[in-house]
Amino acid sequence: MSEATDHLGAAPTIHVDEGMLRDVVEGLCRPQKELSPKYLYDTRGSELFEEITRTDEYYPTRVEQALLERVIPGWVAELRPRGFVELGAGSARKSRVVLDAMESEGGGNTYMPVDVSGDFLQEVATALRDEYPELTVEPAVADMTCEFDLPVHPPNRTWYALLGSTIGNFEEAQAASLLRRIAVQMKPGDRFLLGADRTPGEYKSRERLELAYNDRAGVTAQFTHNVLRVLNRELDADFDVDGFEHNAFYDPVEERIEIHLVARSDQVATIPGGGTIHVAEGESIRTELSHKYDRTRICRMFDEAGLVIDRWAEDDEGFYALVLGRKKDDTDVETD
Ligand code: TRP
Repeated sequence: MSEATDHLGAAPTIHVDEGMLRDVVEGLCRPQKELSPKYLYDTRGSELFEEITRTDEYYPTRVEQALLERVIPGWVAELRPRGFVELGAGSARKSRVVLDAMESEGGGNTYMPVDVSGDFLQEVATALRDEYPELTVEPAVADMTCEFDLPVHPPNRTWYALLGSTIGNFEEAQAASLLRRIAVQMKPGDRFLLGADRTPGEYKSRERLELAYNDRAGVTAQFTHNVLRVLNRELDADFDVDGFEHNAFYDPVEERIEIHLVARSDQVATIPGGGTIHVAEGESIRTELSHKYDRTRICRMFDEAGLVIDRWAEDDEGFYALVLGRKKDDTDVETD
């Protein structure tokens, strides 16, 4: 590969996470330089993301929340889930809609938030135990992109949820294998709840979609630039943060938003123990992908994982979809 890998193992000047160092250098040595989106979410990054969700342009969070409030009470009343496993739970704001509905159908339910950030997860778990005294909260620190075990056996009629358009941040093959892993754990009566941002079309223009990743106040640009600050701090690198420009655009062939940091001029950065990274003027580092879904794509992905669409809801404008899936062979119809 490039010169950067030759220097792996040289003594770093500060305490450096070797796994992160290797991962970052490896990504920056690819023909299309890329960084794992997980480095976007340090404390500052998480705050900036919260700020993105409050911009006028970023509709997915708001639209999903409204959809959940509209359809979840009915779906929960019909199917009466007893367990809720939420992948990438974050602040659990969305989960409360489901937990409230479950509670109003009867107590003694179990909530299992799964997230990579342990501290945050414990905080959220503590708050939820206060708010829902009858709820058993069993948090699990795990990276959903890998195999992981749940801390307790999920009860009958458990819903597994992947909300917040998170499915879009996986490459198609990764998304497919994540769904397969969830489907394998599902038993008759279980459901998979998915929140997906839809492809642009007659209802949502491409311009409208692109705006969601290019807010006028520049919060998204700050958010993506922050990843370079993370590298400078964690790896003692010396990226010139202002030497890059935020660029997010829709690729209609791959049906996804790509988010890049483009070098405004030739950039040279040193990563101690990782070598020198050159980014030519106009060349970019890709920081995130956000795939968009239509019903056909979701059907296909579900089918490959052994799932079928059980219920489907979308907002009046058709921007976003909330999908409930069940296992293909699930003939268990809403009984105890
Ligand atoms: N899950 C979000 C999405 O794909 C993440 C996100 C929103 C994001 N805005 C971003 C990631 C900007 C990187 C940059 O919609």
